[in-house]
Amino acid sequence: MTPLQRALSAPKAELHIHIEGSLEPELAFALAARNGIQLPYDSVDALRAAYDFSDLQSFLDLYYACADVLRSEADFADLMYAYLLRAREDNVIHAEIFFDPQTHTARGIAFETVLRGLEAGAERARAEWGMSTRLILCFLRHLSEAEAEATLEEALPFIDRIHGFGLDSSEKGHPPSKFERVFARCRALGKPVVAHAGEEGPPAYVYEALDLLKVDRIDHGVRASEDPALMARLAREQVPLTVCPLSNVRLCVFPEMRQHTLPALLGQGLAAMINSDDPAYFGGYLGNNIRALQTAFDFDDATWKTLFANSLKASFVDDATRTAWL
Ligand code: HPA
Ligand code: ZN
Repeated sequence: MTPLQRALSAPKAELHIHIEGSLEPELAFALAARNGIQLPYDSVDALRAAYDFSDLQSFLDLYYACADVLRSEADFADLMYAYLLRAREDNVIHAEIFFDPQTHTARGIAFETVLRGLEAGAERARAEWGMSTRLILCFLRHLSEAEAEATLEEALPFIDRIHGFGLDSSEKGHPPSKFERVFARCRALGKPVVAHAGEEGPPAYVYEALDLLKVDRIDHGVRASEDPALMARLAREQVPLTVCPLSNVRLCVFPEMRQHTLPALLGQGLAAMINSDDPAYFGGYLGNNIRALQTAFDFDDATWKTLFANSLKASFVDDATRTAWL
C-alpha cells in the first residue's frame, strides 16, 4: 500500500463540515422538485458551472440561495444521511457537523424542523453502521449579535441536543468581538465553542477568537502563518485548527494547493487537521482533499498519522471514547 492508500483507509474524524454545504446539485434539484420550487438554474450542469468562486462572499451567495430547497424535516434528514454515507467511504468514523439555523428560520422554517431532520439522518447512519456524530449550531456573523441571542433562545428548549456553538459566514468586517456576549452565554451553558477565524480575516481575528470568545478550536486559521507570535502561541497551547485545503484553494485564499500553509503549520507543531468545509461546492469530500494534498506535497505516513490523530484528539466526545479511538 502507498501512503495515499493508507491515508484514505485510516480512521479519521471530520470536524469542519457545513451540512448545507454538502447539498449536491442532484439532491438540490430533487428537493426542488419535491417541494415545487424553481431553482434559478436549468440543470445540474448549469448549477455546477456556477461553482466558480472568487472569494468567500461569492460562494456564500450561492450557498444561501441553494439552501432554499430545504423545507421539510425529510429534506434535512436526506441531506444529513447523504453526507454521512459519503463520509463513510473516506473512513470518517466521527463527524462534528455545523448547521446554520438562521438561514432556515429566516425563511419561516421552524428551528425544530431543522434539528429533528438532521438528527433523523444522523440516527439512521448510527443505526446502520455505528456512525458517530455531533451537531454544532453556527451563528451567522453577517447578522447582529442580537439575532444570534434570539437564535440561542430558540435553541434553549433543545439544548441537550446541541453539542457546541460556532461562528460562520462573511468574515471580513465581522470580527469575533461582535459576538463576545453571546459566546459567553454558550460557554456558561457548558458547551464547547468554535469560530471561523483567519480564513479571509487577519491574524487579529484569531487572537480575538482565542481571547474574547475563548474558543476550543479555530476553524481554518490558515492566515495565522502571517504572524510568528501567533504561530508560537497556537503551537504552545495546542489549539486545534480545522483546516480545509480544497476550500481554501477554491475560495482563492491560496492560488494553488502548493502554496497552502498546511505544511508550515504542521512543521511548527500546530494541532492542525484536514476537513472538507462545503464538499458539494469545493470539489470534494475528505478523500478528495487527501488526494489533492498528496499530489501537492507527497506527505509521508507519519504526516498523515499526525493529521488524523489531531482530528480524533480535537473531537468533542468523552475521554473514554477518544482514548479508544487513538
Ligand atoms: N467560511 C465561512 N462561512 C461558511 C463557510 C466558510 O468556508 N462555509 C459555510 N459557511
Ligand atoms: Zn467553514
